Amino acid sequence: MGSNEDVQAKEKKKEDGRMSEDEEESEKERMVEEADLEDLSGIGPSTAEKLRRAGISSVRDLAAIPVKELLAMSELGEGKAEEATKRAREAALPKVFTAREYLERRRNMPRLTTGTKNLDELLGGGLEPGITELIGAYGTGKTQICLQLCMTVQLTKNRGGLDGAAFYVDTEDTLKPERLEQIAKGVGLEDDRALDKVFGFRAVNTDHQFEGLRIAQEYVREKGVKLLIVDSLTAHFRNEYPGRENLVVRQQRLNAFMHQLLRMASLYDLIVVVTNQILDVPEVIPGVRPFKPVGGNVVAHGSTFRLWLERTKGRTRVTVIDSPKHPRGSAYVALTEKGVEDVVSEDSES
Ligand SMILES: Nc1ncnc2c1ncn2[C@@H]1O[C@H](COP(=O)(O)OP(=O)(O)OP(=O)(O)O)[C@@H](O)[C@H]1O
Ligand SMILES: [Mg+2]
Repeated sequence: MGSNEDVQAKEKKKEDGRMSEDEEESEKERMVEEADLEDLSGIGPSTAEKLRRAGISSVRDLAAIPVKELLAMSELGEGKAEEATKRAREAALPKVFTAREYLERRRNMPRLTTGTKNLDELLGGGLEPGITELIGAYGTGKTQICLQLCMTVQLTKNRGGLDGAAFYVDTEDTLKPERLEQIAKGVGLEDDRALDKVFGFRAVNTDHQFEGLRIAQEYVREKGVKLLIVDSLTAHFRNEYPGRENLVVRQQRLNAFMHQLLRMASLYDLIVVVTNQILDVPEVIPGVRPFKPVGGNVVAHGSTFRLWLERTKGRTRVTVIDSPKHPRGSAYVALTEKGVEDVVSEDSES
């Protein structure tokens, strides 16, 4: 909770009528975010303590967790777990909203520039909350885009950024600070502390990757993280569960991971970007490479926006292959020392 003086200053502002409706709304949201678990009726100090020990420290986290998961990770009994999650949902989540309210909400959602006009236009103004999946073979620029977003997220809002920090779940040791410095210059981010606002988490296996999300959640709440990257989403799952015989378990685990990501995206209006490889499958029609991303339906259905990256003539073509709102289309970018840049040549159609 904020200090007493903070609270008093805000009360005063409200009384003076200096707080707009928007401010009041976000103030309400902030209060829910920061509300103590003990503030919920039916949750006493001992239940709250058990929740904290299980890593749940806010009403929002509690609201988002399914009872089954809560039972597995805490010492709570079934009745208590059910009651606690229900109370938290009542306090933290809107019950029903009209399509107009939904439209308003979407209009006010944050947009994040990619640092290139071509990609921003392709995406109708930049990335938005939800899961954006970057699919492509080796060297197509998936990681470069992720690194660039870690810099653009720090730009001020009037420059297309979110004035925020980034959390990078790195499974392949690709988070290179030297490269980030080059890209910071490329996007015109002049901030000596730019590298301090990228929080890296090196995940060594799938369990650790789940752990990364739990930690990321704390950083979203406490360190102003507005962008979460998982690069790569699927590599560890593929290595740990090889072959057909492991497919069912692998897909179940991957599904749980996607759901955790979706929950975080919708709860915190978080922009989540994941990378995914394509499988090498034999050509059925000669000359036409069949397109098959790793992770099958689980990843396909979990991702909100899917972008397919291909290298062609030294450039990267980015195509929207699945989105609830963007028309199917392509844009071209170049991978350069400065990062990901617009292709300037006129014949951008290959
Ligand atoms: N400093 C740099 N200067 C110029 N180009 C660079 C620089 N660093 C990376 N690149 C470009 O980015 C490419 C690598 O892209 P990236 O690492 O994003 O691939 P990826 O799609 O993540 O591949 P993988 O599937 O292996 O992770 C290089 O081949 C090069 O073209
Ligand atoms: Mg990569």
